[in-house]
Amino acid sequence: MSQIHRHLRFLSLKQLREKEVDLSLLAYPSGEAGRVSEVLRELEALGVAGIGVAESSGKLSPFLLGKGVRGMVFLGLLDETRVAVKVARTDAAVPTMEQEATHLGKANTVNVGPRLFKHSPHIIVMEYVEGETLAEFITTRSRVEIAEIVAKILDQAYLLDKIHLDHGQLSNSSDHIIISPGGKPTIIDYSHSSQQRRPRNVTAFTSYLIRTILRERKNDPTLLTLLKQYKEKQDETIYITLKETVARLIAA
Ligand SMILES: Nc1ncnc2c1ncn2[C@@H]1O[C@H](COP(=O)(O)OP(=O)(O)O)[C@@H](O)[C@H]1O
Ligand SMILES: [Mg+2]
Repeated sequence: MSQIHRHLRFLSLKQLREKEVDLSLLAYPSGEAGRVSEVLRELEALGVAGIGVAESSGKLSPFLLGKGVRGMVFLGLLDETRVAVKVARTDAAVPTMEQEATHLGKANTVNVGPRLFKHSPHIIVMEYVEGETLAEFITTRSRVEIAEIVAKILDQAYLLDKIHLDHGQLSNSSDHIIISPGGKPTIIDYSHSSQQRRPRNVTAFTSYLIRTILRERKNDPTLLTLLKQYKEKQDETIYITLKETVARLIAA
């Protein structure tokens, strides 16, 4: 996948406006011209120099890195660096990206999540994370490799618990964690995050594991006791024992 991205063509905002490019994806799904112009103005104000484009059936359109329920994610250029540009969908449940940007920025304070570079009402410009999704990773790698990555993800989830930021979607982590080739996991998508709810990142991620790679261990008494203890008290000693238990069960 990264190979395709490497050869991607980038067009400046001026070229996007002038060339025969179908820009309706910038205002998905409504495609309103007014919103497309607004998004282009915001991109310009943020200093985004270009957007990756791809050709399909003879027509150019912005290359889509990923499509979510809140946003459409494109590849952009900021100071000659490739960045991920998340543009709010016109049918998103919340009108702006402000809160999501705040939550991503908060996660960054403990070095979690893609780096937040810039944001505006409809756009978040952040670090582009290359790699495979956790779902792909856990179906193709050895249990030892998975255990190692899971321990790193749990550490990040624990840091989020500590700063009282609930990610909100870690009980289904399949598409929300990207593993880079060097073995670094990145938790993406802070669209459902909250600083009001009691954080349950470690327990939500563990419940995802129990539904996927730890299915046969779902009744393991040590694991269940530790989960219960951690739910009651988010204490470091309990956390470390829980992490070691999870890693041991996966690698076994
Ligand atoms: N920083 C990023 N780097 C690379 N790909 C990303 C990044 N952020 C999002 N994506 C891709 O875009 C998809 C949708 O983004 P996501 O933040 O989950 O949107 P939504 O909030 O609408 O669900 C993701 O599943 C992923 O494939
Ligand atoms: Mg998402």
